[in-house]
Amino acid sequence: MKHILHLKSSILGSASYSIRLGDAIVEKIQDKYPGSSLEEVDLAEMEIPHLNPALFRTFFIPGDQLTEEEKATIRLSDDFVKQLFAADIIVIGAPLYNFTIPSSLKAWIDYITRPGITFGYGENGPVGLVTGKKIYVAMSSGGVYSEGPGKANDFVAPYLKAFLGLLGITDLTVVRAEGLKVEGLKEHAMEKAIDSIEII
Ligand SMILES: Cc1cc2nc3c(=O)[nH]c(=O)nc-3n(C[C@H](O)[C@H](O)[C@H](O)COP(=O)(O)O)c2cc1C
Repeated sequence: MKHILHLKSSILGSASYSIRLGDAIVEKIQDKYPGSSLEEVDLAEMEIPHLNPALFRTFFIPGDQLTEEEKATIRLSDDFVKQLFAADIIVIGAPLYNFTIPSSLKAWIDYITRPGITFGYGENGPVGLVTGKKIYVAMSSGGVYSEGPGKANDFVAPYLKAFLGLLGITDLTVVRAEGLKVEGLKEHAMEKAIDSIEII
């Protein structure tokens, strides 16, 4: 039995491919681990403020010294960190928007990057403190970026791998629904992506 966290970041609601793909990944995880619990977080619906000076300052204030106002400022970041630590498996919906991830997902990343909590500094540089997690990234894109001419612009998968590695999360599987805007590919892109899901 596992606890699964499914993060959604598409702005396309019920028409979203990354949400459908994430749901299919969750279903396969639940098949493998019956009775697993699921927490779903729709980042696109949350209107998360950008990381700003006031919030960043609170990251460095010990919890017992926070004012009521600072506690309110840091609450969402604390909630995201708690959700992250509570999960055994995290499914991240990552639709490709303007060659990168949606800004809501970037905000989530900024909120969970907490010095002394999710990562620290050792003698040889940063040390990840979020260990023992498995991540599946449900990517969706209009074009094709895993191969061919688009591969030179495949920024999202390497970016997420580098970022999650900083936190200590190295067990990452990327599942892609790609070519969703390309005639001849779009017709089977989702089916192909769902078929490629392997729960390790
Ligand atoms: C605002 C926006 C920007 C997009 N930018 C790109 C892009 O840079 N490259 C690409 O291949 N597709 C792009 N697309 C197409 C999306 O990747 C495609 O619609 C995909 O299905 C989005 O995932 P979703 O359905 O889960 O929202 C863009 C779509 C939107 C809405």
